[in-house]
Amino acid sequence: MSAQVHIGVTLLLLISCFLSSTQCQHRPNILLILVDDLGYNDLDWRDTRLFTPNIRRLAFSENTVQLANSYVNHLCTPTRASLMSGYYPHRTGTEDGVFLQMEMSGVPTDLPFLPQSLKPLGYNTYLIGKWHLGYCKRDFLPTARGFDSFYGYYGPQEGYFNHSASVYNRAIGKHVDGLDLFYEKNGISIPDFTKNGVYSTNLFLQETMRVLDSHPRTNPFFLFLSFQSVHAPLQVPSHYRIHCPFLGHDKKRHIYCAMLAALDEATGQLIAYLKQKQLYENTIIIFTSDNGGDPELGASNFPYRGGKSTIWEGGTKTTTFIHAPSYIQRFAWRNE
Ligand SMILES: *[C@@H]1O[C@H](CO)[C@@H](O)[C@H](O)[C@H]1NC(C)=O
Repeated sequence: MSAQVHIGVTLLLLISCFLSSTQCQHRPNILLILVDDLGYNDLDWRDTRLFTPNIRRLAFSENTVQLANSYVNHLCTPTRASLMSGYYPHRTGTEDGVFLQMEMSGVPTDLPFLPQSLKPLGYNTYLIGKWHLGYCKRDFLPTARGFDSFYGYYGPQEGYFNHSASVYNRAIGKHVDGLDLFYEKNGISIPDFTKNGVYSTNLFLQETMRVLDSHPRTNPFFLFLSFQSVHAPLQVPSHYRIHCPFLGHDKKRHIYCAMLAALDEATGQLIAYLKQKQLYENTIIIFTSDNGGDPELGASNFPYRGGKSTIWEGGTKTTTFIHAPSYIQRFAWRNE
């Protein structure tokens, strides 16, 4: 799938340049929304007990194509490495699985990442949210790989409110907690200790709007919004549960549903923001996930077998669509 998106974006850029030279001077903005561990059945047009109206509106808009046969890798790091590099995981050395917390690994730096390829086209490039592609040396950091700035976390998972990850320390033989939330600019990471208690879905939305507020209008942007949602642990501000009245009997899916409702709200607010700032019309929005959901943790990949970390379709078939108001117009059927 990542190769598909890579090619898809390139094609869209080519087509838009081909159609008119003015469009070429106004290259489209690209907003890549990556949801973490989203199960195939975890949107409200599949499981109607869920609540994702904003994502549904985007997915079924006339200006959307759904990639109905979209496949990803079975785990986070290989999919993200492919998405950024355009190469299969066996070329990026990530076919084994994920980089663990504090693991001294990264994706080989001779493979250029997508934002590096967009820089010569005049793009400003931003990453907000999860990285998970190596951070043991500067060369592996997002700002060394084509992103102008990064705000988010480097590792595989952490608390949604405290932004802390638990790491096994061999020297002392036990787990220790450490903050994983950083601003990064020019290869320098600065920890952000001020966001304890702020739910990451809302935090990353705020940061996205802050970044776009100071984005120079003369340039197009590539913004990679890499949500923590809906990865483990199951955590959500409790008021989102109001959207999930049909799931009270299933504790995990109930929380998971509320996490999705929060994600959906953030997506809706982001679209409203883009419209208000007149950035919407010229933006290509890509929505996808990195692998299937974990059925042990409230997700569902129905009707597919297996889940995250398996190579059944439950782990690898994902929901992907591209919404582009100025570039995609589906044929509208009419009853004449
Ligand atoms: C952060 O939150 C996670 C998830 O609730 C928890 O497991 C961890 O112990 C917390 N860490 C700290 C330092 O409070």
